[in-house]
Amino acid sequence: GSHGLLSGKKVVVTAGGTIERIDPVRYITNDSSGKMGFAIAKAAKELGAEVHLIAAHTDEAPPEGIETERVESAEDMYQAVLRAFPDSDIVVKAAAVADYRPREAASSKIKKRGDTMTLELVKTTDILENLGRRKTTQFLIGFAAETDSVEQYAREKLKRKNCDLLVANDVTAAGAGFGTDTNLVQIYDAEGLVERLPLMSKEEVGRRLLTLAAERLSGRFS
Ligand code: PMT
Repeated sequence: GSHGLLSGKKVVVTAGGTIERIDPVRYITNDSSGKMGFAIAKAAKELGAEVHLIAAHTDEAPPEGIETERVESAEDMYQAVLRAFPDSDIVVKAAAVADYRPREAASSKIKKRGDTMTLELVKTTDILENLGRRKTTQFLIGFAAETDSVEQYAREKLKRKNCDLLVANDVTAAGAGFGTDTNLVQIYDAEGLVERLPLMSKEEVGRRLLTLAAERLSGRFS
């Protein structure tokens, strides 16, 4: 409700998959539907937070009554997140951000020529890693989409990106990861595993995650 655990808190959530342009009619993206990020945004609102949702490409309509900013590429998302960051209390990076983008987006449609074609990709900015370096009082929650060695990669990402919590999902597990209404996650902090949640709806994951964040945020000041 409106007098919930997160009342008075500003929560920024990113959702969806970024689009990296090849030319005006073609792009590279990924399987993110936006469901996980949208579910977190809804849960944050229910817990009383002021929510700012930053959404890249999604299959779903963003939840009603939540301020939503649409972005396309990793670079656009980076700029939007940076603008919202100084004023935020909690940032949740559920978006699937491209790690690489075409070196340049052609300004007109690329013509079919030879039998092969090479697309050169360059690294995008790692948004979460940048936030990890900049953060002062913000509580930073990252995600890790893994297909193997989930715990090891999750712990490495948490450290490298300086997150307060990291949500690891094994995207090969049934009912988990991209496109589903449910997820199967493990939550880590710098000390190690905090919680291994059973298969549950993405909204329940959002509630559990934000409840944990709220408890830890309030613990900082008591
Ligand atoms: O949208 P759905 O269909 O509901 O699917 C949900 C999900 C599988 C997309 C979601 O649960 C999830 O795991 N999101 C993170 C996907 C991802 O990009 O993971 P990663 O392990 O590649 O990245 C780790 C973290 O760094 C993520 O928080 C990501 O947002 C962030 N990142 C990554 C690359 C980059 N250039 N900038 C970033 O900020």
